[in-house]
Amino acid sequence: MPIPEGQRPIIRPATSGDAGSIAALSRQLGYDASGAEVLCRLESLLAGDNHAVYAAVHPCGDVLGWVQVSVRELVMVDRHAEIGGLVVVEDQRGRGLGHLLMAEAEQWARSRGCTAVCVRSNAVRRAAHRFYKNLGYDQIKTQLVLRKSL
Ligand SMILES: CC(C)(COP(=O)(O)OP(=O)(O)OC[C@H]1O[C@@H](n2cnc3c(N)ncnc32)[C@H](O)[C@@H]1OP(=O)(O)O)[C@@H](O)C(=O)NCCC(=O)NCCS
Repeated sequence: MPIPEGQRPIIRPATSGDAGSIAALSRQLGYDASGAEVLCRLESLLAGDNHAVYAAVHPCGDVLGWVQVSVRELVMVDRHAEIGGLVVVEDQRGRGLGHLLMAEAEQWARSRGCTAVCVRSNAVRRAAHRFYKNLGYDQIKTQLVLRKSL
């Protein structure tokens, strides 16, 4: 649904009521999470201080996108933030929502004393790489991601 002339999307902290929409948008990212699973994770991570999730919301209340940002503390580098996920609903891309969500995530990271923000992005997401580079993100390495089920 287009945003009516003269109205603007709202960027606000995500709430448990957004879980179903976040799950649906996660599927556009390739993650098959149910609303119940997202709700459980959202409540757990928002109970602490080290994570934030922001939603971009249509004036009618529909969630159009979300970003997760987390503080990452490692012994060998300064406290920094990491973007854990970012997605905007397909038919609303290219209208500035991604920029607004990233601005909010960066502001949150600054408020938590982070000196940088990192994002890991699948090598196939060429458009997202351009998006991040235009926002001032530099590629600092290429990694192999390994995983072992427990
Ligand atoms: C990457 C993604 C989140 C960007 O969201 P978006 O809302 O399309 O981003 P924006 O509209 O802010 O910016 C996209 C482009 O539109 C342009 N744009 C910005 N504001 C605009 C506006 N008001 N009107 C029209 N175009 C605009 C920008 O110039 C930008 O160009 P750039 O990519 O060359 O910087 C979105 O494309 C997406 O969900 N992709 C699929 C999931 C994904 O890859 N996520 C990243 C995982 S790491």
